[in-house]
Amino acid sequence: MHACRIARAANGRDKILKFEGSYHGLHDTALVSVKPKAEEYGDPDAPNSVPGGGGVPKASLSNVVVAAFNNLPSVERRFKENPGQIAAIILEPIMMNVGLCLPQPGFLQGLRDICTKNGALLIFDEVKTGAKLAWGGASEFFGVKPDMICLAKSIGGGLPLGAFGASRAVMDLISQHKVFHGGTYNTNRVAMSAGLATFREVLTRENYGHVDKLSKKLTEGYRAIVKKSGLQAYIASAGVNGALMLYPQEIRNYRDWTKIDIDLWRHYWFGMVNRGVLAQPYWWDEQWTVSVQHTEADI
Ligand SMILES: Cc1ncc(COP(=O)(O)O)c(C=O)c1O
Repeated sequence: MHACRIARAANGRDKILKFEGSYHGLHDTALVSVKPKAEEYGDPDAPNSVPGGGGVPKASLSNVVVAAFNNLPSVERRFKENPGQIAAIILEPIMMNVGLCLPQPGFLQGLRDICTKNGALLIFDEVKTGAKLAWGGASEFFGVKPDMICLAKSIGGGLPLGAFGASRAVMDLISQHKVFHGGTYNTNRVAMSAGLATFREVLTRENYGHVDKLSKKLTEGYRAIVKKSGLQAYIASAGVNGALMLYPQEIRNYRDWTKIDIDLWRHYWFGMVNRGVLAQPYWWDEQWTVSVQHTEADI
């Protein structure tokens, strides 16, 4: 919410471009086309802006344009249709609200170039990927630099903590009181202490080495089992995250994700639980996380 507001303030434009199927929180700008139904989502290259539930005002919908993940022409089309009006593109560098959907080579760099060309900001929502992909987040992992990042979840080490950051010029809009920012729980001492401890003690280069090794082992083990079983599936993996993807080919976007055999996925998940393994949170839009606390024995 704050990232979108400050992006709008930074270039004086109202529209935000997001991707179909991505989740960025519950506020009006983000709760659009999160899990739209087939009968409402429209053209795959120009998806409709579908409210993610009741209470999202129509006026908000008109300020959120939707494109398809891994589809640069759909993004270019939106910029052509809305000249000088799009303040920012917001995305998860890896879509993690649809299992695990990786950006195809060149996609993130393509977005970077489109933003630069059109004077829009590129926002990486790294609420999930930030601490879990690499020490330097998605920018380090993919080598593409956004204008702004959003962090949360793991950075609080279990306490509620969120953060966003951008260049000094953009963040100065707050210190110059051009963008209002505040809140009762902002810089809450307990949460901030937990965050500092997490960055200093847990999210260290050394620990990334440890979890990367475990993640590789887990992924290789899963891949060997999938191969042996002959299942129409693949393992998607990035950083410490991964997921068993029950599809014959790699998914590229939200609509591909909807084609999953849900019954089969449920058999997998409950079968694992019945054998004492909580492979990942329940729901086929989630993924597993290898933690710093895990050991070779857990894998
Ligand atoms: C990628 C992403 N962005 C934003 C959010 C919203 O975070 P919060 O629930 O702290 O508002 C989530 C929550 O799951 C998320 O996964």
